[in-house]
Order: sequence, then structure tokens, then C-alpha cells
Amino acid sequence: MFEHLQAKPADPILRLMQEFREDSHPLKVDLGVGVYKDEQGRTPLMQAVDRAQRILVESELTKSYIGPPGSPLFNEQITRLVLGAGLAARLQDRLAVAQTPGGCGALRMAAELIKSCQPEARVWVSDPTWANHVPLLGGAVLPLETYPYYDAETGGVRFDAMLATLEKSARAGDLLLLHGCCHNPSGADLSNQQWQVITEFCLRTGVVPFIDLAYQGLGQGLDEDAQGVRYLFDSVPEALLTSSCSKNFGLYRERTGALLVLSAKAQQTQATASELFTTIRSHYSMPPAHGAAVVETILMHTQLDELWRDELNGMRTRIQYLRQQLNQGLQARGVDRDFSFIERQQGMFSFLGISPEQVKQLRKDFSIYMVESSRINLAGLSAQNLDYVCDGLASILKE
Ligand code: LMR
Repeated sequence: MFEHLQAKPADPILRLMQEFREDSHPLKVDLGVGVYKDEQGRTPLMQAVDRAQRILVESELTKSYIGPPGSPLFNEQITRLVLGAGLAARLQDRLAVAQTPGGCGALRMAAELIKSCQPEARVWVSDPTWANHVPLLGGAVLPLETYPYYDAETGGVRFDAMLATLEKSARAGDLLLLHGCCHNPSGADLSNQQWQVITEFCLRTGVVPFIDLAYQGLGQGLDEDAQGVRYLFDSVPEALLTSSCSKNFGLYRERTGALLVLSAKAQQTQATASELFTTIRSHYSMPPAHGAAVVETILMHTQLDELWRDELNGMRTRIQYLRQQLNQGLQARGVDRDFSFIERQQGMFSFLGISPEQVKQLRKDFSIYMVESSRINLAGLSAQNLDYVCDGLASILKE
């Protein structure tokens, strides 16, 4: 059965993690995988998470199955976090929500749901998009199309080109995959006004928005980062949204996320939910409970909720500070290139805009690791390694 198999190339981001671990250089710097790191280079267990876990250990009475939708309380709380309390209440009757194994589980279940409801639909993804979007969505045999997105000249969004492509080629019933905030890999986000234009486009053409919200709270703030998404959900008849608690709750390995599916009419919600839960049952039966229990414990507990918001704000402001420091550090070394876009971009990632050969050279000469596309995780910088990274970069840029 397996004799014909050939080893597949490892996922580039996961391979990078492995190569970094194996590197013995004392000054090595990991700007690769998108996990938050603190000044000491650790991915910390958030204090709010730690406390919630202790509460759970003391109070949990069963490990019985939770069912395909997962925890109803988690689903309610995540919906409020994403949409805000007012809109969540208004849309409640039109929303089917499932707790999922991370944002990836939500993306794959969304793709399977789309495939079963609308087999001819295509999914439009940004150029570039997160590398794993392709296997996650394509694995459900959904055809993917790309729209222009990142403008390497300005570090912003090629919005006119994006819209022109969608106007010309997207059909009613196609899905438009948008990053809710903190675009991965570019850090270039849509403005509120551009979200409005996209909303009008979806209303006019019948293209269905499909939002991946994996970094809420790491751009401008929890509510600010969801503004565009909220405007859109308030206006369109149908939409899908995947949310992840990996980054903003630091729950990476606990695989905690959610899928929200908005139906046009409240009478349709039950059927949509049943299609979704049947799809889940036939894939992984039901999600793991622990991460979602931690999140709902935090969100239901006033002090833990405050603590979590403070910690998340600290992470966000640290990333913004590192964005400034990197730009200033490069300027101070007389690098003849404008890196000010790094300060304007949002979230964990930016492209440095250097070539794959320069990326390789940084790894070879300095043990500085980043994705081949030159995407860096800003949170991998710290007071300890910033000069080293700026020196390394300046040296290859001046060659
Ligand atoms: C990333 O983009 O680095 C993260 O989302 C981690 C991953 O799974 O790729």
C-alpha cells in the first residue's frame, strides 16, 4: 500500500522551526514561525491562561464528550469577542457557530461546508496569502484563484488592482477570503474605507465573504482589529468567519478556534448548523475541550478577562515598539532603503523585501532565520538581538 510513496517536502514554516532548533550558533535569532515571543525569547503561558487552568483543575467534573459544536458557552463568548456584544446579539438568530480545533480546523470545516453547499464555488485568496491556506482549502477540492494584494513598492495594499480583478472575474457564489486584520504574511491591512468598498462589492455581486481572523488584538486592539469585519457582517446576507485563539490567548498547541457561519435568514440557521455539525462529525467528530474551557473561563471571569486584555495589550504594544526599533535601527546604520512601511503595517509579520539569496545568506552568516519570502515575525526581535539583526541586515543590504 505504501511502497509507491515518496517523501513530500516539509512545510516551509515548520521546517524552519526544526532547522532553527538544530542550529548551535549562540546568537541565533528566530524570526520564522508566527508565535509571539517575549523579551527573553520565550513564548509565555499567559497569566490569565495559567489561572484559568488552575480554576479548571479544581472545578472540572467530567471529561465526557462535548459534541460536534463544542462548548455553547465558548461559542457565545467568541462570537461576542469577534462581533462585539451588540452585533452578536442582533445576528444571533442567523449564526451557526462551532468550536473547532484551532483556526486551521475552522478553515478546513468551512471549506468542506462550502464544497457540500456550493460545489462549483471558487475561493479567491490574496497574493500572497498564508502558505497553509492553500492545502487547507485546496484539500477540500475547492478551486483557488488569486487576487492582487500586497504592494511591495509601498508596503500597502494594491486595492485598485484587487478590486479590478474581483470585479472582472469573481462570480456570484464565489468566496472572497480576507484576512480580518494583521495580514499574514505581509502585515498590510485594508483600511475601514476599503472594508466598506468590499462590503458594497459583495452586496452587489453576490460574492460571499470568508474571513480569517487569526490575530485579533495584535494590530490596533481587540475592537479596532474587528471593525472592518463587523461592518461587513452587519451588512451582507451570508458570510463565514474563522477565528483562532492561538495567538491572542497564546493557546497554540491547545488547538482552539471557532467557525461562524452567517445565513441570510433566521429560518435557515438550523439547517446550516446541522450541515456544519454533520460535516464536523464526519471529520474529527468533535473538538478538543481544554483550550476552549480556558478561554470561556477567562471571558466569563471579570478579573481574568481584565488581566488577559492587559497582557494582550502588552504583547501588541511590544510588537509596535519593535516595528519602530527595527526601522530606526536600519536607518541609523545608513541603509539606503526606506523601511518605514514596517512601522505602518500591523500584527506579527512584515516582508523585509530582500531576495531569497539574501535570506539564505543571513541564515548562513548570522544564523538569523526567516521564511524564504523574507517574511519576518517581529515578535522574534528583542533588546538583546535587535542590534545583531540590524547589523546583519545592514551588512547584506550594503553589499
Ligand atoms: C505562521 O504563519 O507562521 C503561523 O500561523 C504558524 C503556522 O502554522 O504556519
